[in-house]
Amino acid sequence: MTKNNNIKVLGIETSCDDTAAAVVSVANGDGVVLSNAILSQFEEHKNYGGIVPEIAARAHANHLDDVIKRALSDAETDLADISAIAVTAGPGLIGGVMVGVVTAKAIALATGKPLYGINHLEGHALTTRLTHKTAFPYLLLLISGGHCQLIEVRGLGNYKRLGTTIDDAAGEAFDKTAKLLELGIPGGPAVEKLAMKGDKNRFTLPRPLKNKATCDFSFSGLKTALRREVELLLKENGTVSEQDKADLCAALQDAIADSLAAKTKRAMAVFRESYPDESLPSLVVAGGVAANQHIRQTLEQLCNDSGFSFTAPPLELCTDNAAMIAWAGAERLLNGEAGDDSFVARPRWPLDGNTAPKVGFGKKGAKA
Ligand code: KG4
Ligand code: ZN
Repeated sequence: MTKNNNIKVLGIETSCDDTAAAVVSVANGDGVVLSNAILSQFEEHKNYGGIVPEIAARAHANHLDDVIKRALSDAETDLADISAIAVTAGPGLIGGVMVGVVTAKAIALATGKPLYGINHLEGHALTTRLTHKTAFPYLLLLISGGHCQLIEVRGLGNYKRLGTTIDDAAGEAFDKTAKLLELGIPGGPAVEKLAMKGDKNRFTLPRPLKNKATCDFSFSGLKTALRREVELLLKENGTVSEQDKADLCAALQDAIADSLAAKTKRAMAVFRESYPDESLPSLVVAGGVAANQHIRQTLEQLCNDSGFSFTAPPLELCTDNAAMIAWAGAERLLNGEAGDDSFVARPRWPLDGNTAPKVGFGKKGAKA
């Protein structure tokens, strides 16, 4: 390591379907993404209509070394010049997480550099501190393919979950709709594109749990309601037209945006009770679904109406990437935490260790 206020961290992320490595430097408190290499596994999975964990793990094993080399060369650096290594240690698809963890441990062993096992959700949660220097505390809405949570980010390693989904994540609702309407993967961007040509008011979709006095979400009813509309269209017309699909996508996107806004509004009230002295608290939106323009606009409006500032990392740092993992490692290193190579890969790993999984959590179980 060079001086403690002038570091470079190599990040590795393999918890889902992107093989990613990145180098982030921090000099005098300023974080800079020096490289952000990502290899999408889109081609490997596209014929299956979703991610196949076994194929994902093999693809990570086949390509991770090259992706790491690319990250180092894009950053014009090498392992000797790296201060520490940070790797996603969970939650995620365990085969992929293990590939990343074993690779990172091997690099740490060979180089003698400190190693940090990072919670993928913490990576998403802290990115805004890299991109916007957001100060603790802030309210985080994490909306991705596997997670839908409202979290008080109180400090490094100090997170309080205010709400989570009791079934599907928001991104899952987008992905399942795309599958049902045969729009291909990745589902979210395909639904958003078609929704731009649609009428959100033609179909009425439910807003489950919207009026319940909790910050929890539910999205699985949306998918069922949407399937029913598709069945009705097929019965009446024998087909589902492009316009039908566009209208369904617009209705789905609006229902998700509406539910997210309603629960975020509740969480804002809870946050204000926790931090009454914050004059302009921040809402930070992270995770792949934050790429959705309609959802972003809805949340920005909510912030304007509620006296919160709105922050979202740029799109390439909102979806899965290794820069966020490198940054989380940098935060820990700069916080004086020693590296630790005794951690294990974890398929499930709640960010807030005090919260129990929700009863009725979906088929895949409570990932966080
Ligand atoms: O954070 P992320 O890259 O991966 C994890 O799940 O951790 O998020 C991926 C999710 C997918 O469900 C994808 O369909 C969704 O984010 N997504 C979107 C958009 N772009 C990505 N959902 C809605 N609109 C988008 N433009
Ligand atoms: Zn993610």
